[in-house]
Amino acid sequence: MKSLRVAVLASGGGSNLKALIEASQRGDLSAQIVLVISNNRDAGALNIARDAGIAVKHISAAVFPEAADLEQAFMNVFDEFEVNFLVLAGYMKMISTAIIRKFENRILNIHPALLPAFGGKGMYGKHVHQAVLEYGCKVSGVTVHLVDEKYDSGAPVLQRCVPVRQDDTPESLAARVLQEEHKIYAEALQLFAENRIRIEGRKVFIEESSH
Ligand code: GRF
Repeated sequence: MKSLRVAVLASGGGSNLKALIEASQRGDLSAQIVLVISNNRDAGALNIARDAGIAVKHISAAVFPEAADLEQAFMNVFDEFEVNFLVLAGYMKMISTAIIRKFENRILNIHPALLPAFGGKGMYGKHVHQAVLEYGCKVSGVTVHLVDEKYDSGAPVLQRCVPVRQDDTPESLAARVLQEEHKIYAEALQLFAENRIRIEGRKVFIEESSH
């Protein structure tokens, strides 16, 4: 299989993007991040990409008010950079159906809870951790999942638990979960880079490493 040429889509601070870049600099990630796209021209993620010498694009409905033009703008940069895999890292917009079809089973998202709990529309950022604490959960965690046409509904690729402490606030829980996000996302992406993922319906099988 040809090597992964990844576009990372991010709307915010970009700490997951940073963790992916660091994993690749350490040699733990062989996928190549060729492009970072944001809907927000001030996103910290764009600065992190620039600092790492990665190309950046600002693509948003503010620039392309017509949905068809917006989608074409994405398609054009995917072609320009020969992107064959998408990673959503704190990307706050829906991906169009045509893009999801073009990259079928080749789009990952990371969610700061154990899906299908605490996912779906409105469950982002602090809202997730607040809901976990209000429910009284003893564990939370991270889910890396495939992206389909609904929020947080694609099949999980990797999940990992994070303990909830009795004195947690949404912020303290978010910080603990984020630490785990920074490990698990590179691991999940590396499984795709090593061609060790087999997908059957909603089941994602991880093949043994050949080396
Ligand atoms: C992370 O918590 C991720 O799970 C969620 O959005 C947040 C992005 O954080 N999808 P960052 O921009 O990577 O720091």
